[in-house]
Amino acid sequence: MQIMHCGTGPDVAPIGVWGDETDVVAATMEWAANRVVRHTDPKTTARRSSELAEATGPTITAEGLGGATALRLFDEVLAPATRSQDDPMNLAYIPAAPTRAAVAFESVTSAANIFGGLWEAGAGAIYAENQALAWLVELLGWPVTAGGCFVSGGTIGNLSALVTARHDALVRRGGIRPENGWKLACTADAHSSIRSAARVMDVDVVEVPEDGSGHLTGVALREVLAEHPGVFAVVASAGTTNTGIVDELHSVADVCAEYRVWLHVDGAYGGAGLAAPSVRGLFDGIERADSFIVDPHKWLFAPYDCCALLYRDPDLARAAHSQRASYLDTVDREAWNPADLAVHLSRRARGLPFWFSLATHGTAKYAAAIEQTLATARTVATAIAGMDHLRLLLAPELSVLLFDRPGWTEEQMRHWSRTLSDAGVLLCLTTTWNGRLVLRMAFVNPETDAAQVIEILRTTMD
Ligand SMILES: Cc1ncc(COP(=O)(O)O)c(C=O)c1O
Repeated sequence: MQIMHCGTGPDVAPIGVWGDETDVVAATMEWAANRVVRHTDPKTTARRSSELAEATGPTITAEGLGGATALRLFDEVLAPATRSQDDPMNLAYIPAAPTRAAVAFESVTSAANIFGGLWEAGAGAIYAENQALAWLVELLGWPVTAGGCFVSGGTIGNLSALVTARHDALVRRGGIRPENGWKLACTADAHSSIRSAARVMDVDVVEVPEDGSGHLTGVALREVLAEHPGVFAVVASAGTTNTGIVDELHSVADVCAEYRVWLHVDGAYGGAGLAAPSVRGLFDGIERADSFIVDPHKWLFAPYDCCALLYRDPDLARAAHSQRASYLDTVDREAWNPADLAVHLSRRARGLPFWFSLATHGTAKYAAAIEQTLATARTVATAIAGMDHLRLLLAPELSVLLFDRPGWTEEQMRHWSRTLSDAGVLLCLTTTWNGRLVLRMAFVNPETDAAQVIEILRTTMD
């Protein structure tokens, strides 16, 4: 393979205070290249801090260990003490499944060390990030004037969107706060980061009762908004974390429009479904939302950490988030500055690996990969429903399913989960649903083999 030249600077960095770093650069790049292509090891797992201390000895010393030793410790001790999030048999929490192109480009992004907060410093990178965001805007059915930026994760994305929503409400109320304080509305199943944002913002959460299958609906929302005039935003989930269900966005959007309340859609996990024709109908109404997030590090095949935050009207975000200081006086506020759109200033261009993966593979392959995981989830669900010893409790709306093993105690389910995890066979954890302990699987990896999962369920739970 031919290596392209990289820029116009000197070929090799001068040897200054750090000495010659050529060897350590070569060794770390080699490690990264090998990790990208090798198979994941599902047995890698957390160890106690005391064990790690014993295995590594002191690592921060006055003289330094030298790159070779530090890298050896990482390779032999530290990396194996982290879980392979991208293992195809990891079905816990929301796992990850970055493309190799995306992971490799993470190294390129780091090497370029771009300040991605302001256009004047990061223009080329921000332009590329915006191309990826524009694809999401198109999937949402929003106007081309919509836009946003990449932040670290859904938690900061949700917080930033809600700060914008409250600022907009305050402006629309002529600067007067509601007598009984600000409130946001969501269901009990909204992600924990929504309550975290509410605490940070010192606002109350009004819980909207869910329908029989766990959805936020316009009917229930209307009653809540009629009762609570201080509600400045409604948060709907496009893929709840625990159950993977999509709220009834069209009726929720109707009611938000009726009450002139901001609609934020949290699609951190499920937003990827927008690209999949077989489930796109579940998102109807999202075209009327005011803000939206999706984490490409979840189901859009990008590495950690990466959340796409989008606003229908980015000017409202600028009004809420722009930081002013005399040393920032020269910043061009007409330019697209990600720093103006969220709770951050310094920012690495963390959307670049996602952009590179999309640019490399194309949107059609992305849609196919998402459809593939949806199909895997449905195949496993159908198999569970057909097994006498198992009970399917929740069929996947997207790619999360819940099941249990009638006759087993909670401890037996936990034991089964632990045994398979320790053996590196399958990572399938328990969760609580409708007040009881159940088993949960979340599929985001197109490499997960449905037949292999089914065989494990058939042979290890009977
Ligand atoms: C629906 C939803 N929203 C928000 C978050 C928080 O995202 P992050 O962990 O990237 O901060 C998650 C994480 O799993 C999620 O599933």
